[in-house]
Amino acid sequence: MKTIGVLTSGGDAPGMNAAIRAVVRKAQKLGAEVIGVARGYAGLIQGDFRRLTSSTVADTIHRGGTILLTARSEEFLTEAGRARALENARREGMEGLIVIGGDGSFRGALHLHKKGFPVIGVPATIDNDIPGTDYAIGFDTALNTAVEAINKIRDTATSHERIFIIEVMGRGSGQLALAAGLAGGAESILIPERPIDYDEIVNRLEKGRKRGKLHSIIVVAEGVGSALEVSKEIARRTALESRVTILGHIQRGGNPTAFDRILASRLGARAVELLVSGISGKMVGIRENRIVDVDLEEVLAGKKDIDQEVYELANDLAL
Ligand code: F6P
Repeated sequence: MKTIGVLTSGGDAPGMNAAIRAVVRKAQKLGAEVIGVARGYAGLIQGDFRRLTSSTVADTIHRGGTILLTARSEEFLTEAGRARALENARREGMEGLIVIGGDGSFRGALHLHKKGFPVIGVPATIDNDIPGTDYAIGFDTALNTAVEAINKIRDTATSHERIFIIEVMGRGSGQLALAAGLAGGAESILIPERPIDYDEIVNRLEKGRKRGKLHSIIVVAEGVGSALEVSKEIARRTALESRVTILGHIQRGGNPTAFDRILASRLGARAVELLVSGISGKMVGIRENRIVDVDLEEVLAGKKDIDQEVYELANDLAL
């Protein structure tokens, strides 16, 4: 394979640039050229391409966001859109494609694979909700951003002896909230994978108060609903007032951590090795610190669950 394409798609994640850089430089080592596709599948449909060289990706390893830009393309969900994308890719001389993104992006990748166009997926999403890999690129950075925010909120929570409800991103997944809650010392962590027990939340608030603790941090995954609703429900049950902070998109930005840069470098390089050696329809991932590859079909059929041990530990250590 002499020419490969690369795109970033869906929500951006810190470390995407490090992955693009790894793709470009590994491809160069293996004698292949790389075409960058702007704005994910939308750029594939519009034919928005740019040649990427070693120097194009210089000075990007530490940058958040994605130099290729990203989008969620409605048109790519249609047969006509996909056919146009393929036509453009082939006309440009692309023989295979590396898709850096989350599960929505992989669904698109699987369609291309089934049409006989070689693809490899690289998991990148702050949600860390992709089965088949312990970590997705961007999760560690988002986690550190969330924990830093919780630290700051904790200062003011302590000074004012207040309850804070902090809403963390993650779409339908509680991976980010659980990790942020454990690392941030939250008293309760509410995630969509486990039932919400308001009696237990109130019980924890009361126990904390009895032992002289006058501030509380409750972390809520956006997937369980609104943190404002949680605040209202607590007020209904206890008459205790709380403040709500929605961390929002700050979790998607910022310089990637060393962990994410190393992960992105390893996954990006491996994706090129697979594609160049004629493999398609796989996602590269990391399990127990080893780089693995998994069928995209299997990835998309699965659901990543919460680590029960970590969930219980977070609850045990909270009081
Ligand atoms: O998938 C990443 C993510 O940040 C989710 O955590 C969040 O629900 C969603 O994207 C937000 O998407 P948008 O930036 O399109 O509002």
